[in-house]
Amino acid sequence: MSDFEHVFDTPPPGAAADWTIDQNWDAYTQVEHDTWDTLYARQMAILPGRASDAFLNGLNALDLNTGGIPDFAVMNPKLKALTGWTVHCVPGLVPDDVFFDHLANRRFVSGQFIRKPDQLDYIQEPDIFHDVFGHVPMLTDPDFADYMQAYGKGGQRAASLGLLPQLARLYWYTVEFGLAQSPQGLRIYGAGIVSSATESVFALDDPSPNRIGFDMERVMRTLYRIDDFQQVYFVIDSIEQLKWDTLQDFGPIYDRLRGSEDLPVDVVLPQDRVLTHGTQTYAARGGRFAA
Ligand code: PHE
Ligand code: FE
Repeated sequence: MSDFEHVFDTPPPGAAADWTIDQNWDAYTQVEHDTWDTLYARQMAILPGRASDAFLNGLNALDLNTGGIPDFAVMNPKLKALTGWTVHCVPGLVPDDVFFDHLANRRFVSGQFIRKPDQLDYIQEPDIFHDVFGHVPMLTDPDFADYMQAYGKGGQRAASLGLLPQLARLYWYTVEFGLAQSPQGLRIYGAGIVSSATESVFALDDPSPNRIGFDMERVMRTLYRIDDFQQVYFVIDSIEQLKWDTLQDFGPIYDRLRGSEDLPVDVVLPQDRVLTHGTQTYAARGGRFAA
């Protein structure tokens, strides 16, 4: 989910200066561990053949299915050995500059709590299942690992230029809701999709959303939905390509973005590389609020 909104301005009581808190793994209840296992099993019944190899291999490498919520003290050494990243708990959404500073130092931040058993399908704030199951496997991919670190540095720059809303769209349409080409067809790599049973199917199979070839400037102009399935997904050729695309200096892009209008979620432009021209039927019927 969005990591760009925040509630507090200073670390709440009990949090360190960098906003991290102890995972306090011993305090999780059996119900909470069972919730992890339920969500994990549910996603694994859906994701083979849908999620990208990078995601599935990462999940395997981290061994996140040993029973219950992963203990970061066990997970972090494995992740660190692979790409130098580590994961740390925070008490909720953190300020942008704090988030970017963690990324720029190869630290990913995660919610500590897990959703309640009656909220398996939809939560507003990212919990540990979204953050760890959804995001952390991709951090084992060397190119994605580099991309995320570069994003942290790029975030600091965009913030200083007043262009964070634009850069946040890049995060949204890649890290959270990205699709990728593969020799076997489209695959999911975005954390917001792989951690959702319903969107894991919708994003690939539903005729409603547009699916459009990734274009940096196009993505940074496109608004997004935080409350329902996306109306457009952008498709990268590969993680490696995404990494190289984002290594370019965004200065010229930022100059153009300052003078251009935001694009609505359902627009299709003449220059778009259209993979699916969606019907938008799902959204037109009212989405998840449909009767
Ligand atoms: N290359 C970008 C810039 O010049 C930085 C960046 C890298 C942003 C990776 C996002 C992702 O600002
Ligand atoms: Fe997220």
